[in-house]
Amino acid sequence: MLAIRNLTFSCIKLQYGARYASGAPSPKTGIVMLNMGGPQNIDQVHDYLLRIMTDRDVIQFPFAQDYMGQWIAKRRTAKVQKRYQEIGGGSPILKWTILQGDLLCKKLDKESPETAPHRAYPAFRYASPFTDEALDQLNKDKVERAIIFSQYPQYSCATSGSSFNMVYRYFEKHGLMKNMKLSIIDRWSAHPLLAKCFADLIKNELQNLPEDVRNEAVILFSAHSLPLKAVNRGDPYPSEVGCTVQLVMNELRHCNPFQLVWQSKVGPLPWLGPFTDDSVKGYAKQGKKALVVVPIAFVNEHIETLHELDIELVEDAHKAGIQIIRRVPAPNDHPLFIEAMTDIVKNHLKSNQAVNPKLTNRCPHCENDVCATSKKWFFENCTL
Ligand code: FES
Repeated sequence: MLAIRNLTFSCIKLQYGARYASGAPSPKTGIVMLNMGGPQNIDQVHDYLLRIMTDRDVIQFPFAQDYMGQWIAKRRTAKVQKRYQEIGGGSPILKWTILQGDLLCKKLDKESPETAPHRAYPAFRYASPFTDEALDQLNKDKVERAIIFSQYPQYSCATSGSSFNMVYRYFEKHGLMKNMKLSIIDRWSAHPLLAKCFADLIKNELQNLPEDVRNEAVILFSAHSLPLKAVNRGDPYPSEVGCTVQLVMNELRHCNPFQLVWQSKVGPLPWLGPFTDDSVKGYAKQGKKALVVVPIAFVNEHIETLHELDIELVEDAHKAGIQIIRRVPAPNDHPLFIEAMTDIVKNHLKSNQAVNPKLTNRCPHCENDVCATSKKWFFENCTL
């Protein structure tokens, strides 16, 4: 497995291109782009699932966590491999993250010359390049300033929180490099340019609808769901997703009816609803003819957009009687999205807030000791 990790990471380094080839100026500011990642090919699917299923920040089994995680990962592998095969054999999340990071750094080099050169470090939680590999590279590059930039606009303890706990574990083990300043961008659900970007993507999709259904099409904002247990613990994700939705609809001047729905539930326990697939069937029963689906919590394409929405949901919708269903692309390399990322980093650099006080505050019913120690560590060690 280590060999595969090394090989994949070497390929990734090649994909950075000439910009980071030897001879390029060493970066002054490193931007660590946290995300969950995805398998590059179907051979990586099992280990990817295993890492998710054994991550206690994501899922807590009442007993035998590792055994249960291994059992579920093994059971689900073939089904998930088939899905990846149907979208081209692997996840495109790394491709998009590298492109987004490169565009972001080029823009920052121009607009913030005092902190240039900038370099992006994709840092994935469950697939290569792993968080520890990205942080190793950051240390090797001896950057003066490291910004840990979550690529989840809306914060959840199961996604952003798990990645931040991983970053904490790394620095706890290896120590913070002397003279390196570390700071954090943990969430940006309310950023106006993010809302503008989604609004622009939705407008384009509405324009492509036949005129007779354009104004009555329901805009379905779909985000990954969360177990109700996590919601009741105080996870901020549902309210932050709701915030982005409201800002996007304000930007669109509430041109159409809309609804926030939740996708990707797994397992028998109760999760936050209404679910995306059930909602589509519900609207079909109500006689709705057209839907525009917006992946509001995903900043680039991956299995949940390319398979769950584009293949499974479209099939369900047509079966249920919806005549037109269109899916808005994820922000990917949309110029407004790159502008949003640049603005977020620039404002962060100018701010005097190395870490958002919200990040240092635990959910009211958090029982995870790592949350407590990692938040305390960030509070004590981050500087700008
Ligand atoms: Fe939210 Fe620990 S579960 S802070």
